[in-house]
Amino acid sequence: MNYNKKTVKDIDVKGKKVLLRCDFNVPMAKDGSGAITDDKRIRAALPTIQYLLEQGAAVIACSHMGKPKGQVKPELSLKPVAARLGELLGKDVILAADVVGPDAAAKAAALQPGQVLLLENTRFEKGEEKNDPELAKAMAAMAEVYVSDAFGAVHRAHASTAGVAGFLPAVSGFLIQKELDFIGGALANPKRPLVAILGGSKVSSKIGVINNLLEIADTIIIGGGMAYTFSAAQGGKVGDSLLEEDWKDYANDMVKKAADKGVKLLLPIDTVIADKFAPDADSKVVKAGEIPEGWQGLDIGPETVKLYCGAVADAGTVIWNGPMGVFEFPAFAKGTEAVAEALSKTGAITIIGGGDSAAAVQQLGYADKMSHISTGGGASLEFMEGKELPGVACLLDA
Ligand code: 3PG
Repeated sequence: MNYNKKTVKDIDVKGKKVLLRCDFNVPMAKDGSGAITDDKRIRAALPTIQYLLEQGAAVIACSHMGKPKGQVKPELSLKPVAARLGELLGKDVILAADVVGPDAAAKAAALQPGQVLLLENTRFEKGEEKNDPELAKAMAAMAEVYVSDAFGAVHRAHASTAGVAGFLPAVSGFLIQKELDFIGGALANPKRPLVAILGGSKVSSKIGVINNLLEIADTIIIGGGMAYTFSAAQGGKVGDSLLEEDWKDYANDMVKKAADKGVKLLLPIDTVIADKFAPDADSKVVKAGEIPEGWQGLDIGPETVKLYCGAVADAGTVIWNGPMGVFEFPAFAKGTEAVAEALSKTGAITIIGGGDSAAAVQQLGYADKMSHISTGGGASLEFMEGKELPGVACLLDA
């Protein structure tokens, strides 16, 4: 995939209406109060919005939220997003009652340079997830330029993330540019050695990433729940740990492939085990592959921490996707915390894939020490799998 795309800086937006796709799919409080619990994705869109406004554009922003599947669901309205975006920009954000209906069309037509309009949740439209050309055309009709800054949604070929680019000049915003520079740069032309740290609970959800990184990385480090499938595949005893029986052969194949390719594949040498899956479980450290029945591995052990942190210390680039243990329980967060700390101290370019690893780095207080924390969950995973991202492929090549 070509990551070299035109950006907002390559196009004249003065006096023009710009349709800006953002990823405002922010987490909301479960109590139905409409409170946004983390506004990171809204903040991440600010540089592009501010730039467009400074250039004299009128901004028609749009985003999905949740999975309303073509139904209008008031609890998934972008109303709280409009309010928060207005606070952050220090100006009113007009909210349309629909996506391409009469209210959106009238408000878009009346929009003046320097103003911001936010359309309602794009997934209230049945055509959005089907990438319906009629919907894409109707969205495009409101604007003269399309800018995408919705990195978190670029793996979706939807009307507002890809289809609309067929009807307007389409360029990227600063957030997508940053994600392409960091993640794309690390995959295409990494400063070596490239160390990939892969964790999380399941081998099955990381196959694509492991396969792709085996072609690129110098060292691959395995942690988290998926390490127990590797251990069991090598004949180790994993007790009651997470285990994907069906993926044992695959795990062995990966170990062999790494050896054939000269990629260093590091697996845990010890593990912190617990007598139940609970924050107050009894715990102890045992050698990897020696977990007794009735116990389960919930974190990497201290010798593994030393091994993994040593590998990170002299890296040129580190990509991290997936925690090393159950970091939500303080007693089993030490492995993840030690890796985060090691990343904060290395001179390497440090890239944190979205989702759980981003949450871990934030929760543990190391966020500002990383070179880049991706705003995409599924999008950054598919990027690291080497897949084409429809929301990037549709933009004009630089
Ligand atoms: C995300 O939260 O990862 C993005 O907003 C994409 O959301 P989706 O998985 O509902 O398409």
